[in-house]
Amino acid sequence: KSIIAIVPAAGIGSRMGADKPKQYLMLGQQSILAHTLDVLLSHTDISQVIVALHPQDQHFKQLPQATHPKLSLVIGGGERADSVLAALDYALAINPQAWVLVHDAARPCLRHEDINKLIGSVEQHPQGAILAAPVRDTMKRSDASGQITSTVDRALLWHALTPQFFPITSLHRNLSQALAAKVSITDEASAMEWAGVRPGLVNGRVDNIKVTHPDDLQLAALFISQAQQ
Ligand code: C5P
Repeated sequence: KSIIAIVPAAGIGSRMGADKPKQYLMLGQQSILAHTLDVLLSHTDISQVIVALHPQDQHFKQLPQATHPKLSLVIGGGERADSVLAALDYALAINPQAWVLVHDAARPCLRHEDINKLIGSVEQHPQGAILAAPVRDTMKRSDASGQITSTVDRALLWHALTPQFFPITSLHRNLSQALAAKVSITDEASAMEWAGVRPGLVNGRVDNIKVTHPDDLQLAALFISQAQQ
C-alpha cells in the first residue's frame, strides 16, 4: 500500500507565547518540526511527506530536512483543517489510490512502533483509524459557571492523537464537504464521522503528546531523550 504523510505545520502556536511558531522551538538538538519530520521521513513505508506551511513562513528552509527528496511543501490555510485539505489536494494529484497519515507538526515524540501499529490496523479498520489513548482521569461535565453537573463514564472516552490514517479519496471528499458545510473540524476523524464513517481507535503511546503550552517542552524533551536511548 502506498502511504503519504501529511504534516499540518501552518499554525502560529499563540498559546505558547513564544517569539516564533511553536513547531520551530528547540527540543534538545533540533526544532520540534525537525524531530517530527525525522520520524516520518525515516519510515520505510512512507513514500512522501507533504508539509503545509504558513504563507509567511521564514523558518522552514533553515531545517536540515528542508531539501529531503521525500519532502513536498504546500501553503496552509486559516485553520488546521484548511491546511490538511491543501496538502490533500496535492496528495490526490500524486496518487489517488494512496492512504494518508496525517500527523501534527507539534507531536515530535511519535515512534515508528505506533506508526506500524496504526498501518497494521487496516484489515480490522478498512475505512481508517486513528491513534488514541484511553482517558485515565475521572471526567466531569460542567455548567457555564464552572460547577460540576455530572460525571461522564470514562470507560468509553479516548484522547484523539495523531497520526490519523485514511484512504486519500474518502478523506479528501469528506473533509472538503464538511468544511463547505461549515462543520467545526479539529481532526480528520471528525470529518469522517460527519460523513457517517466510524473510524477505528488504535491504542497509542501516551508519550505522543502535542506540544501546546511552555510546560510541554520539557516533557517532550524527556520523551525524545528516552526514545534515543
Ligand atoms: O494549534 P494546534 O496545536 O491545535 O495545531 C495542531 C497542528 O495544526 C499544528 O501542527 C499546527 O501547526 C497545525 N496548524 C496548521 N494550520 C493552521 C493551524 C494549525 O497547519 N491554520
